[in-house]
Amino acid sequence: MEWKEIPLARPGPGQALVALECAAVHPSDFGMISGTYGKKRELPAVAGREGVGRVEAVGPGVIAVAVGDRVRMPEPEGVWRERGVFAVEALYRMPSDLTPEAAAQCLVNPPTAVRVLNDFVALKPGDIVVQNAGNSAVGRSAAFYGKQLGVKVVSLVRNADRLRAELLAGGAALVLDDNDDAPAAIAAFKGAGKVRLGLNSIGGASVMRLIKACDANATVVTFGGMVGDAVRFPTRELIFNNLTLKGYWMDKWGRDASSEALAAHFESVYALFRAGLPLPTDAILPVSEVVSAVARSRASGRAGKVLLRGPAWPV
Ligand SMILES: NC(=O)c1ccc[n+]([C@@H]2O[C@H](COP(=O)([O-])OP(=O)(O)OC[C@H]3O[C@@H](n4cnc5c(N)ncnc54)[C@H](OP(=O)(O)O)[C@@H]3O)[C@@H](O)[C@H]2O)c1
Repeated sequence: MEWKEIPLARPGPGQALVALECAAVHPSDFGMISGTYGKKRELPAVAGREGVGRVEAVGPGVIAVAVGDRVRMPEPEGVWRERGVFAVEALYRMPSDLTPEAAAQCLVNPPTAVRVLNDFVALKPGDIVVQNAGNSAVGRSAAFYGKQLGVKVVSLVRNADRLRAELLAGGAALVLDDNDDAPAAIAAFKGAGKVRLGLNSIGGASVMRLIKACDANATVVTFGGMVGDAVRFPTRELIFNNLTLKGYWMDKWGRDASSEALAAHFESVYALFRAGLPLPTDAILPVSEVVSAVARSRASGRAGKVLLRGPAWPV
């Protein structure tokens, strides 16, 4: 990866010039850059999947967007850039009342949390959901939204003592180290509640613990594989507890959804941010420093997302 200057045309009919406001660096960006993601770009390509910008100029006759509007940077063209000229129909308008940091994170992680809590199991208040990567952006969103739904979200993390107070304040019902003691600790916690859903974005041994913590007929949804190891399952629980293992990909949901369903879904995500969804930021770097930002994002122990600011970042 390198930061490079490329020519920029003036916006023509049906086009707009958009300047980056804020973009995020996500695990799926690493997958796309390294070629392991579910979709690829023709090389050479601009990287980056999620970000928002402001319209800086419009081409002749364009009325669908106006200068100053906040829009999603179109994903297929790549968002880690200062500016781009895009077809107006590829621009999705975003609300202006959200902070740039929030607006830049409305499209991937909180939406995934909303969908996985809604689309697999008909959860009732008092039900228990167990998840690994409880301090990830998806994990924090699931805990916050789960609390709104009245379900108890148990978050497994790699350093529970350091993260417990923060994650409990963000909606988690219980925060545990992701080790082999977790299933017994969850059994002791749950009382009359049932663990009906597991959310796995780690894989390997971690998903085995989620499965062991589940009650009969639960579903475990896998939507990420941070350890890069296969999803393994304990045969005993799969057979005798009648568990269901499923996968989820936000991109596919977005492709298949009607425009009404998409709009309603994103309104529910904006509502989470307006209600105070806490997604911490580790660093905000100029987009021209994207190579360092990616290195920082891949290091362990960061305090939240690494974000990139562009020319439309408010001064
Ligand atoms: N399928 C979909 O549609 C979809 C959509 C959104 C996200 N996702 C997936 O959901 C996951 C979370 O994404 P995010 O953007 O929310 O993540 P994030 O905020 O960047 O956080 C990454 C998380 O992964 C953990 N982690 C990293 N390497 C690990 C390892 N080797 N072993 C155990 N834990 C490890 C981190 O723990 P530490 O803090 O301890 O390092 C942290 O909890 C990713 O796998 C992502 O690909 C999938």
